[in-house]
Amino acid sequence: MTGIVYVNGEYLPAEEAKISVFDRGFLMADAIYELTAVVDGKLIDFPAHLARLDRSLAELDIVNPHGYDGWLALHRELVARNAVTEGSVYVEVTRGNTGERAFEYPPAEIPPTVVAFATNRPGIVDSPAAAAGLRIVTLPDLRWQRRDIKTVQLIYQAQAKMLAKRAGADDGWLVEDGFVTEGTSNNAYIVRKGRIVTRPLGNDILHGITRASLLRFAREAQMEVEERQFTVAEAQAADEAFITSATGFVTPVVEVDGTAVGTGKPGPVALRLREIYIDESRKTAL
Ligand code: PDD
Repeated sequence: MTGIVYVNGEYLPAEEAKISVFDRGFLMADAIYELTAVVDGKLIDFPAHLARLDRSLAELDIVNPHGYDGWLALHRELVARNAVTEGSVYVEVTRGNTGERAFEYPPAEIPPTVVAFATNRPGIVDSPAAAAGLRIVTLPDLRWQRRDIKTVQLIYQAQAKMLAKRAGADDGWLVEDGFVTEGTSNNAYIVRKGRIVTRPLGNDILHGITRASLLRFAREAQMEVEERQFTVAEAQAADEAFITSATGFVTPVVEVDGTAVGTGKPGPVALRLREIYIDESRKTAL
């Protein structure tokens, strides 16, 4: 990474941006994060990302170090300083640094650590992956049970992504008790007879911001949405499948565990939803 990075109130060249080895984010993954897409130099779905950041912190009893305006200014400053037109802003808040390693939470006067950076990622809108569609393999969901909190505890997701790549696929879907939970870094959907099916919200999946907006747009466009669990076999027999995430928006899935989904090409519903999501979210970008 190059460019300008935010660390605890300062904007620094990436190579000068440093935190303590005693930071609880480093020692214990005691930290949460958010990732917001940038399109046309503006933040996509920003208020919802900030609301989830606030919720993740509250669930872990970490005090939110900034209010809405402070966070917005910080995001915009990083976009401007790094000249990002298409890409993302990553922010991480840790429980801070006590200068030692201890399991107990530190006293309230220890401030959280805030780190943030912006990345230029040209091609997220005009995405080759969206045009080709993704090949998915399924893997057991071995994560902890509070997946609704967006923590930096991502080792299993990283491992699952690597296992999927080594198996010759583009990504992995995680499976628990016979049902798909979500992708390694995205929410999972199938389309059956024009109806969009996705797992309901709970502690077992991340409450995707793209998911929330997309389901709203789909309902507004009179499309039927069914929030229920689905199996791998159902996904393989579906007309279409797709994923959603902040920078993937809506990306079609064309294969699950070696079986072509539908025609084996990106489906019309997924492609239409991608178009709707990008058009609509651009209108409310900040
Ligand atoms: N990941 N589920 C998981 C496990 C995720 O990591 C993500 C996002 C999502 C989609 O959430 P959203 O629509 O709010 O991006 C679902 C981000 C992009 C990441 O870790 O980089």
